[in-house]
Amino acid sequence: MGKIIINGGNRLTGEISVSGAKNAILPILAATVIGGKESTIFNVPKLRDVEVMEEILLSLGSRIRRIDKMMWVDSKPIDSIRIPEELVGEMRSSIILMGAMLGRCGEIIISYPGGCEIGHRPIDLHLKALRELGVEIEESHGLLHCKARELKGAEIQLDYPSVGATENIMLAAVKAKGTTIIRNAAREPEIVDLQEYLNRAGARVNGAGTSVIIIEGVDRLTDVTHTTMSDRIVAGTYMIASAMTNGEVIINNIVTEHLQAIIAKLREAGCLVYSNNSSLKVVNTNGIRPIEMIQTLPYPGFPTDMQAQMMALLSIANGTSIISETVFESRFKHAEELIRMGANIKIFGKVAVIKGVKELTGVKLNAKDLRGGACLVLAGLAAMGTTEIDDIYHIERGYEDLHIRLQELGADIKVVK
Ligand code: UD1
Repeated sequence: MGKIIINGGNRLTGEISVSGAKNAILPILAATVIGGKESTIFNVPKLRDVEVMEEILLSLGSRIRRIDKMMWVDSKPIDSIRIPEELVGEMRSSIILMGAMLGRCGEIIISYPGGCEIGHRPIDLHLKALRELGVEIEESHGLLHCKARELKGAEIQLDYPSVGATENIMLAAVKAKGTTIIRNAAREPEIVDLQEYLNRAGARVNGAGTSVIIIEGVDRLTDVTHTTMSDRIVAGTYMIASAMTNGEVIINNIVTEHLQAIIAKLREAGCLVYSNNSSLKVVNTNGIRPIEMIQTLPYPGFPTDMQAQMMALLSIANGTSIISETVFESRFKHAEELIRMGANIKIFGKVAVIKGVKELTGVKLNAKDLRGGACLVLAGLAAMGTTEIDDIYHIERGYEDLHIRLQELGADIKVVK
C-alpha cells in the first residue's frame, strides 16, 4: 500500500507518450479465450487491472508469456469454467468473461462483480441480452451460473448504450449460430478496437463505432496478432496536468479524434490546444476560465472517466462552473477531498457547482477510486505545499508509472511504499 507525495507548484513541460488503453485491452484479453488459439498482443499497458485479468486467464488454464509490452496468450489448454471470486471482487470488468467463456465453453460460473466504487453498477443489461442469445442463468448465493447448449444469434435492443454489455454481447455472438444485431450499442473507440481484434481472428463483426453492430457467427477462429489502441483517458489526464500547472506538454501516440470532447472543453477553459492526428500540445498561460456546463455522456460526448480530473481543473478556475454527471450515480467522491484542499464545491445529486478558488493547499488525502485518485494527483500538482495521497492502488489500476511520467515533465512527485 503506497502513498504519493507531491510538492506542488512546478510547471510541467516536455513530451510524453501515452500507453495502451486499459479499457481496450481488458475486453481483448477476455476475447482471447473464445477461439482456443494463440493471440499476440502489442502495446499492453502495465497496470494492476491487466494483471488481474492475466491471473483470471491463468486460473482458467490459458498459458501466458509477457515480454515488456507484448503479451502472448494461448487459450487452447482452458479446462475450468469458474472465475475465482477474489479476482472478480477486485475488478468489475471481469464480467466481460461471461460472453467470452459462453462462446468458448458454453458455460461459466462467476460471482457478482466488484471493482471501482462508483455508485450502484448493475449488470441487468448484460444478463437480459445473454438470455436473448439462448443463455440460461441461475443466480444463487452471489454466484451466477450461465449455461448455453447453443448460442443463437438474436436482435438485441439495448435500453442504454452500456460499454460492457455491448462488449459482452459481441463476445458471446462471435461463434453463435446465425446473425446478432445490437441496436443502441455503445460507440466508444475501445469497442472498435475489440472489433478489429475479433475480425483479425476470423470473426465477422461490423458497425462498431456506430450504434448498430452486426455479428455474423462463425464456426472457428484463428491465431491473431493485434496492437492495442492508445489510452484516451490517460492522454486527457496529462492534458489537464499541463493546463493546471501553466504548463506546455506535448502528448504523443494518441488518436486526436478520440479526444475531441476533452479538447473542446479545455479550449473553453482558455487553454491553447494544438494537434495533428497523433499528437497534441496543451499550453496554458492565462489561468483557467470557468466552463458553463460539462455534461458527461456516452461517446462521443464528454467521458465520465474524465469528470473527476476536470473538476480538479475547474476548482482553480476564475469563476463558477457546473458539471452534470449523467452516466454514473455517486461519482463525486473526489469532491470531498478537493474541498479539504480548499476547493469550493457544492453537490446537488448528479450536479456539482464548482466556484473556482485562487489556490488549493496540499493536505493528506485518500484516493477513493481510480479517476478520483487521478484528480487528486492533478490537484496536488497545482496546490501550494505538500499533498499526500493514500490508497494509491486505485490509481495503479489504470495509470502506468504515473509518478515517473510526471517527474519526467518536471513535477516534484514520488511514491513511498
Ligand atoms: C466502461 C468503462 C468505464 C467507463 C464506462 C462508461 C471499461 C472496463 N470500463 O464501464 O471506465 O466509466 O464504461 O464510459 O471499459 N448499467 C446498467 N445496467 C447494466 C450495465 C450498465 O444500468 O447492465 C449502467 C451503469 O450502472 C452506468 C451506465 O449504465 O450507470 C454505464 O455503464 P457501462 O457503459 O456499462 O460502463 P462499464 O462497461 O461498466
